[in-house]
Amino acid sequence: MKVLVIGSGGREHALAWKLAQSPKVGSVYVAPGNAGTDAGPRVRNIAITDLDALAEFAVAEEVVLTVVGPEAALAAGAVDTFRARGLRVFGPTRAAARLESSKAFAKAFMQRHGIPTADWAAFDDAAAAHAHIDAGAVPVVVKADGLAAGKGVIVATTRDEAHGAVDAMLGGGQAGGRIVVEAFLAGEEASFIVVAAGGRALPLATSQDHKRIGDGDTGPNTGGMGACSPAPIVTPQVHARVMREIVAPTLAGLESEGLPYGGFLYVGLMIDGHGAPKVVEFNCRLGDPETQPILMRLKGDLFDLLMQASAAEATDTTSSIDSIEPDWDHRVALGVVMAAANYPGEPRRGDAIGGLPAEADDLMVFHAGTARRGDGIVTAGGRVLCVTALGDSTGAAQQRAYGAVDAIRFDGAQFRRDIGSRAIGS
Ligand code: AMP
Ligand code: GLY
Repeated sequence: MKVLVIGSGGREHALAWKLAQSPKVGSVYVAPGNAGTDAGPRVRNIAITDLDALAEFAVAEEVVLTVVGPEAALAAGAVDTFRARGLRVFGPTRAAARLESSKAFAKAFMQRHGIPTADWAAFDDAAAAHAHIDAGAVPVVVKADGLAAGKGVIVATTRDEAHGAVDAMLGGGQAGGRIVVEAFLAGEEASFIVVAAGGRALPLATSQDHKRIGDGDTGPNTGGMGACSPAPIVTPQVHARVMREIVAPTLAGLESEGLPYGGFLYVGLMIDGHGAPKVVEFNCRLGDPETQPILMRLKGDLFDLLMQASAAEATDTTSSIDSIEPDWDHRVALGVVMAAANYPGEPRRGDAIGGLPAEADDLMVFHAGTARRGDGIVTAGGRVLCVTALGDSTGAAQQRAYGAVDAIRFDGAQFRRDIGSRAIGS
């Protein structure tokens, strides 16, 4: 059978790699993909980005399942477009994806349904936002309302910094700008991703992202510089609270508002010292780079899982997705992102990449911003690679991953040395 993955990042490489392991899958198409997803007869790239054209391709090729990777495609209505042609697709509709594409919508939704999150206010007027900041405490968090690839959030430690963020996002008289200003939450972050279908949820293995560019969580936010799974902060007690206090009311709330949710639902959590979880953000998709370590640990058949999950949408029935118990590798998986020169600013492209290792049972280099040039592979985006390894402990996984990172070469490569250190507690 044929499947289609929409997207071009490390998450999509990991999805394609895992789907291709299913004995039922003959071909995986990735649109538009990267140099890592153009790997031969079973996984190959399709140079179509227009959603209507892609849906026509899926009809013509008899694609049985499409998985939408990135938020931009979901917000552009990829699921609606595919479903209108009778195609089976896993992901939320454009309307349900507002949970990610508008932070103001997400905050108001959480308030309506009593879902724990930081206190907030939305503004489209800079003067009102400045006054709110003057009257409030610091640190304070200023967020652009719309999609910003993980870069539209400023955690301001001083009022000056917060005012500057407001001016940058709303200043200059730009029309239509909107921001959310919210209270700073102290604690430790974790990523909690579920497969949602027909009102039910199957939690995937927990994970933790490292969002800042620099070691020790310093410098600007990025899309994510590395991740590991599992996240020890998510104890069984915290896990149960997240399912009960966040995931269940979110799915029920969406349903009650006429937005039944099918797809991956990513809850970005802040967990305080008492183990109380709050929502930092919702994403309507898998995380990148969290997906890379999570799928390294998944032993079962991802195609079967997603066919079962997408059946509820295809037949409009309740789902038994929550009765599945996926088999997770007991080992720790850890992914180190190697980013291009100047990331998270406009990345430099075209640097030749050398020293890529062969795939092994415990090591996989997922490509993101890469392209083929002649016989070689060059950088072609901000996050270039995610070097992902399994190990019996976090330290062992770090050693395996960084051993490979140190052998990979491209000019201007940036990566963190401390991915996984939070799980070790240093
Ligand atoms: P977001 O895109 O909303 O997930 O924000 C990006 C990052 O900013 C998060 O992963 C956190 O590290 C940080 N952040 C966002 N909101 C808050 C908050 N209310 N308190 C503390 N940190 C936050
Ligand atoms: N790694 C964070 C995200 O995917 O949004």
